[in-house]
Amino acid sequence: MFDKHPSTHRGYPRPALDSAIDVRPLRRGEEAEWHRRIGHPSVDELSAALAAGEERFHVARCGPRWVGFLAGVRRGASFRVHALRAAHGSARNALILALSRLGPSEIRTGDPELAAALRLHGFRQSGCEVLVGRSLRADLPPAPARLTLRPAREGFGELVRRVLVGAPGRADVARLCGARPDGVEAELGGRPAGVMLPERDGVVGWLALVGLVPEVRGRGLGRELHAAGLAELRRRGATVYRDRTDENNLPMLRVFAANGCEVDGVEHGFIHDGVQP
Ligand SMILES: CC(C)(COP(=O)(O)OP(=O)(O)OC[C@H]1O[C@@H](n2cnc3c(N)ncnc32)[C@H](O)[C@@H]1OP(=O)(O)O)[C@@H](O)C(=O)NCCC(=O)NCCS
Repeated sequence: MFDKHPSTHRGYPRPALDSAIDVRPLRRGEEAEWHRRIGHPSVDELSAALAAGEERFHVARCGPRWVGFLAGVRRGASFRVHALRAAHGSARNALILALSRLGPSEIRTGDPELAAALRLHGFRQSGCEVLVGRSLRADLPPAPARLTLRPAREGFGELVRRVLVGAPGRADVARLCGARPDGVEAELGGRPAGVMLPERDGVVGWLALVGLVPEVRGRGLGRELHAAGLAELRRRGATVYRDRTDENNLPMLRVFAANGCEVDGVEHGFIHDGVQP
């Protein structure tokens, strides 16, 4: 039987597409126009991104007119939408459906309106992360009393794999388990107990992973390990700490709070497989 609205969400029909609207990546030569309308990033940054072949910027056009803009950042397998602006609903629909053509990416957004629109278009919610942050200039929590820290050694990838057992929402296992010369191992009584993966971009630092093997969890060691991670990030030159964890990871959320981190917001993740452009 013909189903008029095959992917309805709570009774709303899937938004219709206006075939007059075309969404495509920003092209070289259009940087100044984008900058004039959106204000950021700079023309030079746009040119560099386009020269590097990065598909981070898209425009929706209706004939010669620009009717919408989409900017994001690809990180690993996910595409985080920074801004989606549209002159009207049809342009927004076209931009959202363009997101489903960005490859096998998970779409991430902290904007509740865009999250609602993605659901309406049939995107499947894959998770929700809580974003936290704190200054690394302020006093840091006390250094570990029980854990001993050392640089990653042979077998680090296997230790990372054990640490990821039971960690909610970690889809990036392969990346985390790969060779990590900058990783840090924690020992308890001479045995491997945990890992942390400090990463930094300019002044902003984060821990791509902080975790303990299952046998030693629940004894307050997570707080110690995370405190050591903050100190390590500061030692490596970061002055601001920003991190995230799955909304269901209560132990990690408690560790963040205990070590002086404040919640900055949430970020929803969506998978677009099965969405018909
Ligand atoms: C997240 C993790 C590092 C926390 O370390 P931990 O040593 O287990 O946690 P702690 O013993 O320090 O406890 C931290 C808080 O969580 C609470 N908690 C711990 N386990 C809990 C559980 N299973 N259910 C509910 N609360 C729990 C503790 O009561 C404590 O709360 P409090 O500060 O209010 O007393 C650890 O559980 C872990 O390695 N998990 C797997 C990897 C992971 O998820 N890493 C984070 C994502 S990158």
